[in-house]
Order: sequence, then C-alpha cells, then structure tokens
Amino acid sequence: MTVTIVGSQLGDEGKGGIVDVLGDSADVVVRYQGGDNAGHTVVHDGEEYKLSLVPSGAIRGKVNVLGNGCVVNPRTLFSEIDALRERGVDPDVRVARRAHVIFPYHRLLDGIEEDRKSEDDNEVGTTGRGIGPTYEDKAARRGLRIADLTDPDTLRERLAYVLPQKRALVEDVFGLDIGSLDDPDALSVDALHEEYAEYGRRLAEEGMLVDSGDFLADRMAEGEDLMFEGAQGTLIDIDHGNYPFVTSSNPTAGGAATGSGLGPGVVGDGEIVGVVKGYLTRVGSGPMPTELGGVPGDTPGYDGDPSNPETESEELAHQIREEGGEYGTVTGRPRRVGWLDMPMLRHAARASGFTGLAVNHVDTLAGLDELNVGHAYEVDGEERLTMPATTEEWGQCEAQYRTFEGWPDVDWADVATEGYDALPENARTYLEYVADELDAPVYAVGVGPAREETVVVERP
Ligand code: GDP
Ligand code: IMO
Ligand code: MG
Repeated sequence: MTVTIVGSQLGDEGKGGIVDVLGDSADVVVRYQGGDNAGHTVVHDGEEYKLSLVPSGAIRGKVNVLGNGCVVNPRTLFSEIDALRERGVDPDVRVARRAHVIFPYHRLLDGIEEDRKSEDDNEVGTTGRGIGPTYEDKAARRGLRIADLTDPDTLRERLAYVLPQKRALVEDVFGLDIGSLDDPDALSVDALHEEYAEYGRRLAEEGMLVDSGDFLADRMAEGEDLMFEGAQGTLIDIDHGNYPFVTSSNPTAGGAATGSGLGPGVVGDGEIVGVVKGYLTRVGSGPMPTELGGVPGDTPGYDGDPSNPETESEELAHQIREEGGEYGTVTGRPRRVGWLDMPMLRHAARASGFTGLAVNHVDTLAGLDELNVGHAYEVDGEERLTMPATTEEWGQCEAQYRTFEGWPDVDWADVATEGYDALPENARTYLEYVADELDAPVYAVGVGPAREETVVVERP
C-alpha cells in the first residue's frame, strides 16, 4: 500500500504536517523530488521542527528515503541530521545513489542568474539553494550523483570536467571576478574534492546509501507501507506549473514513480492525497489572480509596509498572514496571500489524480464575516474553469468569485477530538464545496499546526 502526498497549490500547503498525521501507519517515508528548497513544518509534543531536506517521517522514527529524483546538498543533509540528533531525534535517512548532488557552484550560479534576471524584473524568486542549476546539469549529463562521492577518482574526474565550464560562465558570461566572490572555493576542484569525498565516506560509513527502487521494492515485498512526500506544489511543477516561475522538478504524483524507482502502477494503486490550504499563498514571483493586498517588492503597485496595511484587501492579507504564520520556512520571506483558486485546484486534481484531500488552515480563516473563492476565471469575456497553459494568459485571468459565509473561532482542539461533525456548519459547507468541485473526499481537516489539531475523517 502506498499513499502519495501532493501539494495542490504553490507550496506550503501544510504537507509536512499531513505526512506526520497520515504517515502514522507508514513504515517508510520517501521524498521523490526537490532538495533543500522545501520547508516542511512538523509540530510534535509542542516542539516545532522545520525540515528542508530530511523527510517529515523522521520525527516519527520512520525509515526516510531521499529518492533518485531528489537533488541533495550534503552540507544541509548532515547539518539537519546533526541538529535533529541534538534535539534527541535520531533520524534514519537513506539516500539514493542515483540522486544528484548540489554543489556550492550550483548555489552560486542560482544567485548570479537571479541577480541578472532581476535587472529586468524577471527573477523567479528562487530559494537560492542551487536547485535549478543542479537539475540543469542532470539533464545535460554533466551532473555528479551521490554514488560519485564514494569514488574519489571519479569524483575528481567529473569535477575537473565540469568546473572549467562553471568558471567560464561566472567570468566570461556573467563578467564576475572569481577572486572577489564570497566563496571562491565553490569553484575549486581541490577544495570541493576534499569536502565532498568526506561526505561520501560518511554516507557509506553510516549505512545511508541505497538503490532506492530496489530498497523500496524489498520493503514492500516484506509487507511494509510507503508514504511518498511531495515537496513544493503543483503550480511550481516544471511541467504543470506556471513556467518559468517554477521549481525544476515534478512534485505532481507522476514524479513519485520516476523519482523513487517504483512503477507508476505502484503509485497509482495507492491513494493520492492533495493537500489544500484553505486559502492561497505564494513565495516568489508570478501571477496570482486571487491575490489579496500584497508584499512589497512582489506585487506591482503595492509598495506599502506589510505590517501597516492601507486598504481593506491589504488588511485581510495581513490578518491571514499573521494568523496563519505565513512567513517562508526556508527564507523567512512574507508570503503573498490570496483566496482559494478553484481553477488551480481542478488543474492539480487532474494532473495528479487525487483520490482524497486534506484541507488545512480552517482555523486561520475563522472569524471572517465572509470568504471569497475564485470559482472560475474570466478571460476575454469567456469563463474558464481550469488554468491556461501560459503564464501570460494566466496573468490576464480575472477571478470570478463565489462568496461563502464565515465561521466563528471555536475551541479547535475540541473539534479535532470530536470529529468532522463538530466543525462549524459554514466551514463544512466550504469543505463540501471543495470536495464536490474536485470530486474527491476530504480525508483530513487541519484546524491548527499540531498533530492533534487535525480532524481525521478517514485514514487512506
Ligand atoms: P509545507 O511546506 O507544505 O510542509 O508547509 P509549511 O510547513 O511550509 O507551511 C505550513 C505552515 O502552516 C506551518 O507553519 C504549519 O505548522 C502551519 N499549519 C499547517 N496546517 C495548519 C492548520 O491547519 N492550521 C494552522 N493554523 N496552521 C497550520
Ligand atoms: P515547500 O516544500 C513554496 C518556489 C520559490 C520560487 C520557485 C523556484 O515548502 O512547499 P527553487 O529554489 O525551487 O528553484 O525556486 O519555487 N519554491 C517554493 N515555494 N514552498 C516551497 O517548498 C518551495 N520551493 C520552491 O519561491 O518561486
Ligand atoms: Mg513549506
């Protein structure tokens, strides 16, 4: 049995918390794409854990696998594992030999290219973790994989091939002086060889290396259950997202097969749970037809102070941002806030084939008189129920709203104990609308950040 957890919006839907709650009965938690650009929050025994690379199953003592579809920064991996150990959690993390390695030059180039694009206001607003440049090298067949770290000769040979190209990019294409960079060692074969061969040694010594498909198939043959933890969200999927404001991998459910080494039949045979935030947030650039207010620098025409909103719409965005703690887990950036966008969710449900939903932050929305939902878009006088393929067209879509009556703030811990029927009636109406539109049942409702603040309707 497998359960795949997929973000249905622009990331930060609360996937980490849902993996933690629904992953209770899983034996192995697998990340199948992305790297330390993710920021997943798990609240356990009143303690908050922010994980960027280690799968959320770590907090529950599961076996955690970073599959072949991931890009792994060993510096982050070991610092996260060491920090967890200091807090008394000893995570069991396995890393696919086929996963690609993020090197310091990838981060360097991520930053340089964003700077260059920002001169024309075209930056993606990446997390700066080197994700794009690493997947770029993977596709260009010049990347280094985790297995290469354990073979010092191969490691040196591949670094010696790739680094002159990176140096030329920095100097000749971007016109920068390597000597004046903050970290000139990012482009040194010797320095990188020494540091990364040591990571390879540690990965081998700690028994962390696996061939992920074989490893997972063996665990399944022994009767174990797997949970796939998607990082990011559907709208920043490289194929199904709003290109070019996307990440460089496939968080949609198909990625769980290619990124783990198991067949699509294995993933498709299980459940695919779309995680939906009760409203919408975005970090980084790109359109957002249901956006409220804004964040300075991100929203054209809004240069205000996010903590000092000036219009009613800014006030609402501010209120939701503060209530929901909407500040980036990785970068601390204030998140842009908007109403739920149904064309986006229909697109996500189709791209991944959701068999169920987890809707979070129902508590965050409490206390509003009424809420809007972008039910459809209007473009050129026509109604659209799903997303257009281009970002330019999406930018022209105007949200057509449906209004729902708000619900009161109640004792959410009590609601979580009593179950679905204890939710305020208007909240249930809202949830049932979403479930109907997406043709998928609600399995879980988040009414607070903690594990015990989740109403579990049905365990997939
Ligand atoms: P992820 O990247 O999808 O795992 O989500 P993040 O961890 O980046 O962002 C979700 C944030 O919302 C975290 O701070 C969570 O603790 C919090 N959160 C998740 N679900 C709920 C919920 O139902 N209610 C409230 N109030 N907070 C939630
Ligand atoms: P989780 O797993 C929200 C966004 C970045 C940027 C774009 C590309 O916490 O949901 P990248 O660094 O991946 O090349 O950046 O994708 N982005 C995220 N936004 N949540 C995330 O992860 C994100 N990971 C990347 O802001 O717009
Ligand atoms: Mg996040």
